Amino acid sequence: MTVKDRVAIVSGGSRGIGQAIAELFAEKGAKVIIWDVLDAGTDVAKSITDKGQSAEFMKVSITEKEAVEQAVKNVVEKYGTIDILINNAGITRDKTLLKMSDEEWDSVINVNLSGIFYCTRAVAPIMKEKGYGRIISASSTTGLRGNYGQTNYAATKAGVIGMTKTWALELGRYGITVNAIAPGYTQTPMTDAIPDNLKEMAKHSIPVGFLAEPKDLAVGYLFLASDEARFVTGICLPIDGGATR
Ligand SMILES: NC(=O)c1ccc[n+]([C@@H]2O[C@H](COP(=O)([O-])OP(=O)(O)OC[C@H]3O[C@@H](n4cnc5c(N)ncnc54)[C@H](O)[C@@H]3O)[C@@H](O)[C@H]2O)c1
Repeated sequence: MTVKDRVAIVSGGSRGIGQAIAELFAEKGAKVIIWDVLDAGTDVAKSITDKGQSAEFMKVSITEKEAVEQAVKNVVEKYGTIDILINNAGITRDKTLLKMSDEEWDSVINVNLSGIFYCTRAVAPIMKEKGYGRIISASSTTGLRGNYGQTNYAATKAGVIGMTKTWALELGRYGITVNAIAPGYTQTPMTDAIPDNLKEMAKHSIPVGFLAEPKDLAVGYLFLASDEARFVTGICLPIDGGATR
Protein backbone atom coordinates (compact mmCIF):
# COMPACT_ATOMS: atom_id res chain seq x y z
CA MET A 1 0.00 0.00 0.00
CA THR A 2 1.84 3.09 -1.23
CA VAL A 3 1.69 6.48 0.48
CA LYS A 4 5.42 7.17 0.13
CA ASP A 5 6.23 10.89 -0.22
CA ARG A 6 2.52 11.74 -0.11
CA VAL A 7 1.67 14.83 1.94
CA ALA A 8 -0.98 13.77 4.44
CA ILE A 9 -2.96 15.91 6.88
CA VAL A 10 -4.34 13.97 9.85
CA SER A 11 -6.84 15.89 11.97
CA GLY A 12 -7.07 14.75 15.57
CA GLY A 13 -3.65 13.11 15.33
CA SER A 14 -2.53 13.98 18.86
CA ARG A 15 -3.87 10.76 20.34
CA GLY A 16 -6.09 7.72 19.79
CA ILE A 17 -6.87 6.52 16.27
CA GLY A 18 -5.43 9.69 14.70
CA GLN A 19 -2.07 9.11 16.38
CA ALA A 20 -1.99 5.54 15.05
CA ILE A 21 -2.79 6.82 11.54
CA ALA A 22 -0.05 9.47 11.76
CA GLU A 23 2.49 6.88 12.95
CA LEU A 24 1.59 4.26 10.34
CA PHE A 25 1.54 6.73 7.44
CA ALA A 26 4.92 8.19 8.49
CA GLU A 27 6.36 4.67 8.78
CA LYS A 28 5.21 4.07 5.18
CA GLY A 29 7.03 7.19 3.99
CA ALA A 30 4.28 9.83 3.98
CA LYS A 31 4.93 13.41 5.11
CA VAL A 32 2.46 13.75 7.95
CA ILE A 33 0.97 16.98 9.27
CA ILE A 34 -1.07 16.64 12.45
CA TRP A 35 -3.85 19.17 13.05
CA ASP A 36 -5.18 19.12 16.59
CA VAL A 37 -6.17 21.34 19.51
CA LEU A 38 -4.14 19.21 21.94
CA ASP A 39 -0.44 20.07 22.29
CA ALA A 40 0.34 16.37 22.71
CA GLY A 41 0.63 16.41 18.91
CA THR A 42 4.08 17.93 19.38
CA ASP A 43 5.26 14.78 21.18
CA VAL A 44 3.63 12.51 18.58
CA ALA A 45 5.41 14.38 15.78
CA LYS A 46 8.71 14.33 17.69
CA SER A 47 8.56 10.58 18.30
CA ILE A 48 8.02 10.15 14.55
CA THR A 49 10.86 12.45 13.47
CA ASP A 50 13.15 10.80 16.07
CA LYS A 51 12.79 7.65 13.95
CA GLY A 52 13.94 9.57 10.87
CA GLN A 53 10.42 9.84 9.45
CA SER A 54 8.48 12.99 8.49
CA ALA A 55 5.87 14.64 10.72
CA GLU A 56 4.94 17.99 12.16
CA PHE A 57 2.26 19.32 14.47
CA MET A 58 0.11 22.37 13.74
CA LYS A 59 -2.27 23.60 16.41
CA VAL A 60 -5.50 23.97 14.44
CA SER A 61 -9.11 23.68 15.50
CA ILE A 62 -11.08 22.31 12.57
CA THR A 63 -14.09 24.33 13.75
CA GLU A 64 -12.36 27.62 12.87
CA LYS A 65 -12.67 27.96 9.13
CA GLU A 66 -10.24 30.88 8.72
CA ALA A 67 -7.61 28.97 10.74
CA VAL A 68 -8.19 25.88 8.58
CA GLU A 69 -7.80 27.90 5.38
CA GLN A 70 -4.61 29.51 6.69
CA ALA A 71 -3.25 26.09 7.75
CA VAL A 72 -3.89 24.75 4.24
CA LYS A 73 -1.91 27.69 2.80
CA ASN A 74 0.93 27.01 5.26
CA VAL A 75 1.08 23.33 4.32
CA VAL A 76 1.10 24.08 0.58
CA GLU A 77 3.79 26.74 1.04
CA LYS A 78 6.02 24.30 2.91
CA TYR A 79 5.31 20.97 1.17
CA GLY A 80 4.12 22.18 -2.25
CA THR A 81 0.92 20.13 -2.26
CA ILE A 82 -1.63 18.09 -0.26
CA ASP A 83 -2.32 14.52 -1.37
CA ILE A 84 -4.23 13.01 1.55
CA LEU A 85 -6.74 14.45 4.01
CA ILE A 86 -7.72 12.30 6.96
CA ASN A 87 -10.75 13.87 8.66
CA ASN A 88 -10.33 11.95 11.90
CA ALA A 89 -10.94 14.57 14.64
CA GLY A 90 -14.21 14.05 16.46
CA ILE A 91 -15.86 14.48 19.86
CA THR A 92 -18.75 13.04 21.87
CA ARG A 93 -21.13 14.83 24.26
CA ASP A 94 -23.52 12.02 25.13
CA LYS A 95 -27.01 12.52 26.57
CA THR A 96 -30.36 10.99 25.84
CA LEU A 97 -32.67 13.05 23.63
CA LEU A 98 -34.75 14.29 26.55
CA LYS A 99 -31.69 15.62 28.39
CA MET A 100 -29.55 16.94 25.55
CA SER A 101 -28.78 20.66 25.70
CA ASP A 102 -28.34 23.01 22.72
CA GLU A 103 -24.67 23.34 23.67
CA GLU A 104 -24.17 19.56 23.54
CA TRP A 105 -25.92 19.39 20.19
CA ASP A 106 -24.04 22.37 18.68
CA SER A 107 -20.55 21.41 19.84
CA VAL A 108 -20.72 17.93 18.30
CA ILE A 109 -22.20 19.27 15.05
CA ASN A 110 -19.47 21.93 14.91
CA VAL A 111 -16.54 19.52 15.21
CA ASN A 112 -17.79 16.30 13.62
CA LEU A 113 -19.74 17.77 10.72
CA SER A 114 -18.87 21.45 10.08
CA GLY A 115 -15.18 20.81 10.86
CA ILE A 116 -14.98 18.08 8.23
CA PHE A 117 -16.79 20.34 5.76
CA TYR A 118 -14.35 23.24 6.37
CA CYS A 119 -11.25 21.01 6.04
CA THR A 120 -12.45 19.25 2.90
CA ARG A 121 -13.64 22.45 1.20
CA ALA A 122 -10.27 24.08 1.88
CA VAL A 123 -8.16 21.12 0.67
CA ALA A 124 -10.19 19.94 -2.35
CA PRO A 125 -9.11 22.79 -4.71
CA ILE A 126 -5.44 21.85 -4.17
CA MET A 127 -6.21 18.23 -5.02
CA LYS A 128 -8.35 19.22 -8.00
CA GLU A 129 -5.52 21.29 -9.47
CA LYS A 130 -3.13 18.37 -9.00
CA GLY A 131 -5.56 15.79 -10.37
CA TYR A 132 -4.98 13.53 -7.38
CA GLY A 133 -6.38 13.19 -3.89
CA ARG A 134 -7.49 10.87 -1.14
CA ILE A 135 -10.05 12.06 1.42
CA ILE A 136 -11.07 9.73 4.24
CA SER A 137 -13.39 10.77 7.07
CA ALA A 138 -14.30 9.20 10.38
CA SER A 139 -17.87 7.97 10.55
CA SER A 140 -18.88 5.40 13.19
CA THR A 141 -21.03 2.33 13.62
CA THR A 142 -23.28 4.82 15.46
CA GLY A 143 -23.79 6.57 12.10
CA LEU A 144 -24.95 3.28 10.60
CA ARG A 145 -27.36 2.09 13.25
CA GLY A 146 -27.72 4.79 15.96
CA ASN A 147 -26.75 4.41 19.60
CA TYR A 148 -28.46 5.06 22.90
CA GLY A 149 -27.57 8.53 24.21
CA GLN A 150 -25.91 9.70 21.00
CA THR A 151 -28.46 11.79 19.04
CA ASN A 152 -25.88 14.47 18.22
CA TYR A 153 -23.06 12.04 17.45
CA ALA A 154 -25.28 9.76 15.32
CA ALA A 155 -26.48 12.76 13.28
CA THR A 156 -22.89 13.77 12.51
CA LYS A 157 -21.60 10.29 11.76
CA ALA A 158 -24.52 9.56 9.40
CA GLY A 159 -23.92 13.01 7.91
CA VAL A 160 -20.29 12.10 7.21
CA ILE A 161 -21.50 9.21 5.06
CA GLY A 162 -23.84 11.53 3.12
CA MET A 163 -21.05 14.07 2.52
CA THR A 164 -18.65 11.29 1.52
CA LYS A 165 -20.99 9.90 -1.14
CA THR A 166 -21.72 13.40 -2.47
CA TRP A 167 -18.04 14.38 -2.65
CA ALA A 168 -17.17 11.08 -4.34
CA LEU A 169 -19.63 12.05 -7.10
CA GLU A 170 -18.40 15.63 -7.37
CA LEU A 171 -14.63 15.02 -7.16
CA GLY A 172 -14.12 11.65 -8.85
CA ARG A 173 -13.44 13.24 -12.24
CA TYR A 174 -10.41 15.03 -10.75
CA GLY A 175 -8.66 11.88 -9.57
CA ILE A 176 -9.88 12.37 -6.02
CA THR A 177 -11.38 9.46 -4.11
CA VAL A 178 -13.54 10.12 -1.06
CA ASN A 179 -14.37 7.46 1.51
CA ALA A 180 -15.38 7.02 5.14
CA ILE A 181 -14.50 4.51 7.81
CA ALA A 182 -16.97 3.43 10.49
CA PRO A 183 -14.90 2.31 13.45
CA GLY A 184 -16.48 0.01 15.96
CA TYR A 185 -15.55 0.11 19.61
CA THR A 186 -11.87 1.16 19.79
CA GLN A 187 -9.79 1.60 22.95
CA THR A 188 -8.78 5.28 22.99
CA PRO A 189 -9.09 8.24 25.38
CA MET A 190 -12.55 8.82 23.83
CA THR A 191 -13.80 5.50 25.16
CA ASP A 192 -11.72 5.39 28.38
CA ALA A 193 -14.56 6.93 30.39
CA ILE A 194 -16.95 4.07 29.58
CA PRO A 195 -17.40 1.79 32.63
CA ASP A 196 -15.73 -1.64 32.50
CA ASN A 197 -19.03 -3.54 32.76
CA LEU A 198 -20.32 -1.78 29.63
CA LYS A 199 -17.06 -2.56 27.82
CA GLU A 200 -17.50 -6.24 28.76
CA MET A 201 -21.06 -6.15 27.39
CA ALA A 202 -19.79 -4.53 24.18
CA LYS A 203 -17.31 -7.37 23.67
CA HIS A 204 -20.16 -9.88 23.61
CA SER A 205 -21.83 -8.06 20.70
CA ILE A 206 -18.64 -8.19 18.62
CA PRO A 207 -18.15 -11.46 16.73
CA VAL A 208 -14.33 -11.38 17.02
CA GLY A 209 -14.75 -11.00 20.81
CA PHE A 210 -12.41 -8.09 21.50
CA LEU A 211 -12.30 -4.30 21.27
CA ALA A 212 -10.14 -2.70 18.58
CA GLU A 213 -6.83 -1.03 19.20
CA PRO A 214 -6.13 2.19 17.22
CA LYS A 215 -3.72 0.36 14.88
CA ASP A 216 -6.59 -1.92 13.78
CA LEU A 217 -8.25 1.17 12.35
CA ALA A 218 -5.10 2.74 10.93
CA VAL A 219 -4.64 -0.11 8.42
CA GLY A 220 -8.04 0.67 6.89
CA TYR A 221 -7.12 4.34 6.52
CA LEU A 222 -3.83 3.29 4.91
CA PHE A 223 -5.61 1.13 2.35
CA LEU A 224 -8.08 3.85 1.34
CA ALA A 225 -5.30 6.49 1.24
CA SER A 226 -2.98 4.40 -0.90
CA ASP A 227 -2.21 4.93 -4.58
CA GLU A 228 -3.52 1.41 -5.20
CA ALA A 229 -7.07 2.18 -3.97
CA ARG A 230 -7.85 4.38 -6.98
CA PHE A 231 -11.06 2.49 -7.89
CA VAL A 232 -12.51 2.63 -4.37
CA THR A 233 -14.67 5.69 -3.73
CA GLY A 234 -17.94 6.67 -2.10
CA ILE A 235 -17.90 3.85 0.43
CA CYS A 236 -18.15 3.69 4.19
CA LEU A 237 -15.97 0.82 5.36
CA PRO A 238 -16.97 -0.59 8.75
CA ILE A 239 -13.97 -1.77 10.80
CA ASP A 240 -15.83 -3.12 13.77
CA GLY A 241 -15.01 -6.76 14.40
CA GLY A 242 -18.24 -7.74 12.66
CA ALA A 243 -20.56 -5.69 14.88
CA THR A 244 -22.58 -4.32 11.94
CA ARG A 245 -22.40 -7.47 9.81
N1 LIG B 1 -12.90 5.18 19.73
C1 LIG B 1 -13.98 4.66 19.19
O1 LIG B 1 -14.51 3.64 19.68
C2 LIG B 1 -14.60 5.26 17.96
C3 LIG B 1 -15.70 4.60 17.38
C4 LIG B 1 -16.28 5.13 16.24
C5 LIG B 1 -15.80 6.30 15.68
N2 LIG B 1 -14.73 6.92 16.26
C6 LIG B 1 -14.28 8.17 15.64
O2 LIG B 1 -12.90 8.09 15.31
C7 LIG B 1 -12.30 9.38 15.46
C8 LIG B 1 -11.12 9.27 16.42
O3 LIG B 1 -11.61 8.80 17.67
P1 LIG B 1 -10.68 8.53 18.93
O4 LIG B 1 -11.34 7.46 19.71
O5 LIG B 1 -9.27 8.38 18.52
O6 LIG B 1 -10.90 9.92 19.73
P2 LIG B 1 -9.96 10.69 20.75
O7 LIG B 1 -10.85 11.54 21.58
O8 LIG B 1 -9.02 9.77 21.44
O9 LIG B 1 -9.11 11.63 19.76
C9 LIG B 1 -9.74 12.64 19.01
C10 LIG B 1 -8.74 13.72 18.71
O10 LIG B 1 -9.45 14.76 18.01
C11 LIG B 1 -9.00 16.00 18.52
N3 LIG B 1 -9.97 17.06 18.32
C12 LIG B 1 -11.16 17.23 18.96
N4 LIG B 1 -11.73 18.38 18.57
C13 LIG B 1 -10.89 18.94 17.65
C14 LIG B 1 -10.93 20.13 16.89
N5 LIG B 1 -11.93 21.01 17.01
N6 LIG B 1 -9.91 20.39 16.04
C15 LIG B 1 -8.87 19.54 15.93
N7 LIG B 1 -8.78 18.40 16.63
C16 LIG B 1 -9.77 18.12 17.50
C17 LIG B 1 -8.79 15.72 20.02
O11 LIG B 1 -7.99 16.73 20.63
C18 LIG B 1 -8.14 14.35 19.98
O12 LIG B 1 -6.73 14.45 19.86
C19 LIG B 1 -13.40 10.31 15.93
O13 LIG B 1 -13.96 11.01 14.84
C20 LIG B 1 -14.41 9.37 16.54
O14 LIG B 1 -15.71 9.91 16.53
C21 LIG B 1 -14.12 6.44 17.38
